[in-house]
Amino acid sequence: MDWDEIRGVTGDLGLLLAAKFGWAARRGPFRGIVVEGFSHPAPFLLGSYESELEQAIESLIAVSPPRVVNVGSGEGWYAAGLAARLPEAQVIAYDNVPERIEDTRLTLRNNRLEHRVEARLGTDVRQFAGDLAPGTLVVMDCEGWEYALLDPALAPGLRDCFVLVEVHDCALEGLSDILLERFRPTHAIERIPCGIRDTRGFPELEGLPDLTANLAIWEFRVEMEWFVLRPLGHPLCAR
Ligand SMILES: C[S@@+](CC[C@H](N)C(=O)[O-])C[C@H]1O[C@@H](n2cnc3c(N)ncnc32)[C@H](O)[C@@H]1O
Repeated sequence: MDWDEIRGVTGDLGLLLAAKFGWAARRGPFRGIVVEGFSHPAPFLLGSYESELEQAIESLIAVSPPRVVNVGSGEGWYAAGLAARLPEAQVIAYDNVPERIEDTRLTLRNNRLEHRVEARLGTDVRQFAGDLAPGTLVVMDCEGWEYALLDPALAPGLRDCFVLVEVHDCALEGLSDILLERFRPTHAIERIPCGIRDTRGFPELEGLPDLTANLAIWEFRVEMEWFVLRPLGHPLCAR
């Protein structure tokens, strides 16, 4: 089976679940977000997608960041979810692939959030650095480009920002150590490993063959981790 065939199957599986339960995410921090058009909607619909981040996301939302900068917005899950959960925040989304930024815009439209998010094609470290006001929440998943972007020497505003980043040592060996070294002086660092999914938490999957149920919560993921960086200088994270 090649990737196009796998995407066909995951798309069909999403259609099957959506026909029964609708297109809105059923649980998790972004419950209610419509994911019609996603290439693999099932984990989003079920609420299993990146579920190991749920507590961290809730804690970052609780800080009420005035601005969110989402780098690697892809199909628009975080841009839409955070815009919905943070109605007062300014939200900026970047993706460097034209089709993906269109996907982001589609998800924003499907959720009537297009007026809340500025979706931009491409990232330039200088523009990114200029986006960073104190207390900004940066949510980043960009296939290793975090090496170039998450650098306080080039983007000094990062010292006062909250960051949730998917770390891609698979793209650049030793990247997590580099990021730890860059942020240890200024941030409390939480490391969240990628967890194991279990279909038993999802009654929607009952009655499906095992393989189909497991595909519904599969995220095409290799072993990896996320970092949550909380600025030590922020009043809510004082040393
Ligand atoms: C795995 S996807 C992100 C998915 C997202 N975390 C979500 O949950 O919906 C990674 C995205 O990063 C984008 N990307 C890669 N390098 C980038 C860069 N330098 N700037 C902006 N986006 C980038 C890719 O086009 C892709 O859409």
